[in-house]
Amino acid sequence: MSSAFVPKDFFQLHSVAAIFGSGESCEVDLGCGDGGFLLQMAAHYPERRFLGVERLLGRVRKVCRDSTRQQLDNIKVLRLESRYFLEWFIAPGSISRLHYLFPDPWPKEKHHKNRLVQDSFIPVLHRALAENGEILFKTDHDGYYQWVCERLDASPLFERVEWDEPYYPKTDFQLQWEAMGKPIFSAKYRRCHAS
Ligand SMILES: C[S@@+](CC[C@H](N)C(=O)[O-])C[C@H]1O[C@@H](n2cnc3c(N)ncnc32)[C@H](O)[C@@H]1O
Repeated sequence: MSSAFVPKDFFQLHSVAAIFGSGESCEVDLGCGDGGFLLQMAAHYPERRFLGVERLLGRVRKVCRDSTRQQLDNIKVLRLESRYFLEWFIAPGSISRLHYLFPDPWPKEKHHKNRLVQDSFIPVLHRALAENGEILFKTDHDGYYQWVCERLDASPLFERVEWDEPYYPKTDFQLQWEAMGKPIFSAKYRRCHAS
């Protein structure tokens, strides 16, 4: 069975049960790339559900192929744009943990408007996460790290918590950046109740 999730209707909100067949929440790897991290997490935590979201078809196909080969039945892969997924596709409160790993940092100032995390993104993220849901963010780009942390730190909707992951495999991009000697920045935030 392929792990690709191909929606019949892109204009309705999708529950976790509609995507996986059961359950109320899942972990999401946003921009999962070739899926190295997603596959290792799914194998390590067979009791959890993992959804990879990725816009490039070739990468989606690779993750589907590899998850079938490894007989992982707790993975789904969705080909969709990240902001659309969070704002319009996934039902509110569905995501227990959002992994946001080595996203495109859009380093040039004139391209900062293309960064996923903007002030308007914070309530979108808050709505998509379940109660006490978490965002786990890693990047090699100091400027984007500061940008994301500034916005989350300034918001009453999130609180920063310690990065205390007992098992957290390195992604394909992390391995590449580390091989080039680049430092890696990590931050974890928890969703707060909106007052
Ligand atoms: C730099 S790669 C990182 C891949 C993986 N997270 C890793 O660390 O190895 C960024 C990934 O996000 C995907 N991506 C970028 N913008 C996206 C968007 N707006 N919606 C969905 N996927 C996106 C890219 O196609 C690419 O696979």
